[in-house]
Amino acid sequence: MYKKFIKPILFKFNPEFVHDTINLTARFASVTRTSRILRPLFVYKNEKLENQILNINFKNPIGLAAGFDKNAQLTNFMPDLGFGFMEVGSITSNPCEGNPKPRLHRLVKGKGIIVNYGLTNNGAENITKKLKNKKFRIPIGISIAKTNDSSIKGDASIQDYFKSFQLAKDIADYITINISCPNVGDGRSFEDPELLEKLLKKIKTKQTNKPIFLKLSPDIKKDNLNKIIQLAENYNIDGFIASNLTKDRTNIDLEGKGKFKGGISGKPTQDKSNQLIKYIYKKTNGKFIIIGCGGVFNGKDAYEKIKAGASLIQIVTGLIFEGPSILKKINKELVELLEKDNYKNIQDAVGKGN
Ligand SMILES: Cc1cc2nc3c(=O)[nH]c(=O)nc-3n(C[C@H](O)[C@H](O)[C@H](O)COP(=O)(O)O)c2cc1C
Repeated sequence: MYKKFIKPILFKFNPEFVHDTINLTARFASVTRTSRILRPLFVYKNEKLENQILNINFKNPIGLAAGFDKNAQLTNFMPDLGFGFMEVGSITSNPCEGNPKPRLHRLVKGKGIIVNYGLTNNGAENITKKLKNKKFRIPIGISIAKTNDSSIKGDASIQDYFKSFQLAKDIADYITINISCPNVGDGRSFEDPELLEKLLKKIKTKQTNKPIFLKLSPDIKKDNLNKIIQLAENYNIDGFIASNLTKDRTNIDLEGKGKFKGGISGKPTQDKSNQLIKYIYKKTNGKFIIIGCGGVFNGKDAYEKIKAGASLIQIVTGLIFEGPSILKKINKELVELLEKDNYKNIQDAVGKGN
């Protein structure tokens, strides 16, 4: 129904307007408990999909990726759509309006979105205050990034990340350090090993038993990646999210929207993300937990990432293009694929495609 009737109407409007309207509708549905009533339509349960990872229980491996719920307004709603976990943010130390609009552009044929939000969010203090003492029905990750402000540079940018980390660490089930956003002001990304080491050193002085993930760019160069993997080992990082938006526009049909700045999500990131997962898994013998993210639209896409080495999956663009029934569909198809390959549980399939 979504793809036939609702999506053609939604896709006629500006994507950010649609996103804001859906956000408002979703909040209304959870406050009025309508989403609880509709829950059976969307949720699919099967014990083959259940898993305990880093002492966190996941009912299924499909999570909402960062960027859809930037201000953590949908933590009551998303469990009713059938998500196994969700990541809010990215949040930044200071509130941020982001880049001027329009800053989202759909690639309809190519199943992608050009994203140029510029880390818009209400700020770490405001967002974490709302989440404090809240009981969550699914595991919650908080993604932290550096405030999009070019005057915050060098050591101040480490402090900027650190403030968000301190506010988030006792609330979330896990923390993601988004190091693949280029908006760090001084033109250096935190995928720069020198900056990253300073940040990890600082974060690790604050003892926390909360799992920490690093979110990587799908465009990362091998030698840089190897250095980051080494740092992750040195500083006991738990895992990676592979991956963020791609900045590389070669071989992408921009459907006349090439003049718009931004990273690209969805199908154009799929193969790069799969290669990155495979590389990290093989190089580290499965030592790190990998969350596979980029271009997942069905069970087969998710399974490919799991076989490459991902234990968990995240989606954003798939939800926007396929609609709310995507969770049930992916999870059902995953069980069929596991059964076809005679795996008893999702964990048995991780990395088996390498
Ligand atoms: C509208 C939009 C906003 C996003 N904002 C963030 C963000 O704030 N932080 C982040 O780490 N990733 C962000 N992303 C990237 C996604 O989390 C994800 O890594 C990427 O889109 C690939 O997954 P997908 O193909 O399922 O969308 C955003 C993506 C989209 C589409």
